[in-house]
Amino acid sequence: MKLWFVLCLALLWVELQNGDCQQVKRRKDVGENRSRPGGKRVKVRHPKLKDGGGKGQSLLTQVLDKGRFLRLGQSTNLTPGKNIELRCKGNSIGWSYPTYLDTFNDSRLSIKQSDKYSQLILTSPSAADTGPYSCWVIVCDGTECEKDHERSYVSYIYFTDKDNLFVPSTIHFEIVYLRPDRPAVVPCRVTDPQATVSLHREVPPEEIIANGTQVTYDPTKGFVLQNPSPEHQGVFYCKAVTKGTPQISTKYQLLYVEVPSGAPFVSLEYSPESVRGGDNINLTCTVLGEPEVDVSFTWSYPGQGHRPVHIQTSWRLVNRGVSHTTRVTQSVMTVEDMETIDFGNYICKAKNQHGETIVTTDIISK
Ligand SMILES: *[C@@H]1O[C@H](CO)[C@@H](O)[C@H](O)[C@H]1NC(C)=O
Ligand SMILES: *[C@@H]1O[C@H](CO)[C@@H](O)[C@H](O)[C@H]1NC(C)=O
Ligand SMILES: *[C@@H]1O[C@H](CO)[C@@H](O)[C@H](O)[C@H]1NC(C)=O
Ligand SMILES: *[C@@H]1O[C@H](CO)[C@@H](O)[C@H](O)[C@H]1NC(C)=O
Repeated sequence: MKLWFVLCLALLWVELQNGDCQQVKRRKDVGENRSRPGGKRVKVRHPKLKDGGGKGQSLLTQVLDKGRFLRLGQSTNLTPGKNIELRCKGNSIGWSYPTYLDTFNDSRLSIKQSDKYSQLILTSPSAADTGPYSCWVIVCDGTECEKDHERSYVSYIYFTDKDNLFVPSTIHFEIVYLRPDRPAVVPCRVTDPQATVSLHREVPPEEIIANGTQVTYDPTKGFVLQNPSPEHQGVFYCKAVTKGTPQISTKYQLLYVEVPSGAPFVSLEYSPESVRGGDNINLTCTVLGEPEVDVSFTWSYPGQGHRPVHIQTSWRLVNRGVSHTTRVTQSVMTVEDMETIDFGNYICKAKNQHGETIVTTDIISK
């Protein structure tokens, strides 16, 4: 029961990180290659998920008054407050929509599948619902179902709200990790694609000019820094103007990290250094890695199944100098009152999304 709960939490975490909420079980979605760039809210879309999708016209439509339909293109501007109904033709359809709607298990969203089409209804949409809405045909071969990438359609819907030029965020102070090997995104998205947006450093006050090469602005993503470097660290905010007074986004803390992505870098230590029967010992398995890369631990030990042990896992962010941030994840196993059965080989297995590292240590009786 407990394991099931932990698994659910882990899945939820993965979903949140991926930025999209899938209506189809993950298993069915094998073709999709999602990766996670610097900005948490940003999605890497399948290249075929472009305007109208692959073959033929988009099957994604908006139902207007009096039974009229509007085929949705790459982006759509809608008015907040007015309920929307989207339809996608087909008897088995998958949907994705902004994460926000699932994070709060929003009852404003409903999806119904009928014989001929699937219907997505969102009531009282607001600026926060701005984002990509996509549908695709699910093809099944027996019990194995998959997303048909050729028949996948997306429209980025802006719920333009002059009082919320920036898509509201539930986080007031976001952290953006900068890595030397990939672009970073300051995710100040807007609800009006016509808005003029600029990026500003707080201290010293400075505007970072988007000149189309190193720094670019995409209203559906935010500011993209092509080659982040330690100089880009600091507290930033975005400013947007249409008509009238400019609006300021939430703040973003940009942190530079240099730890490469890979299997965890692990060390295993124990204390005290010399152990005798009757002693209490702590074994500490430590992983140094990227700030948002989660690590899980598995222990194997001589008294496994016979002797109770206590295991505690925790993590913290450590600033090493001005330009590095490292996540230190630790699992500490405590064995009390060492018995003969407890001496021998202790194995710590640390796993992240990139791989697994195994470290061992031998505890011998002194
Ligand atoms: C996903 O994309 C990444 C980077 O583009 C690539 O390294 C990786 O092999 C891809 N994985 C799959 C399953 O296609
Ligand atoms: C989401 O809401 C529905 C109906 O309000 C409820 O049945 C369901 O259990 C909720 N799910 C979660 C994960 O909270
Ligand atoms: C854009 O700015 C970067 C640094 O801010 C500079 O290196 C680059 O040459 C500029 N590109 C253009 C086209 O001005
Ligand atoms: C083991 O860890 C606990 C909790 O951190 C600490 O109180 C205890 O002194 C440690 N014992 C040894 C032998 O290091």
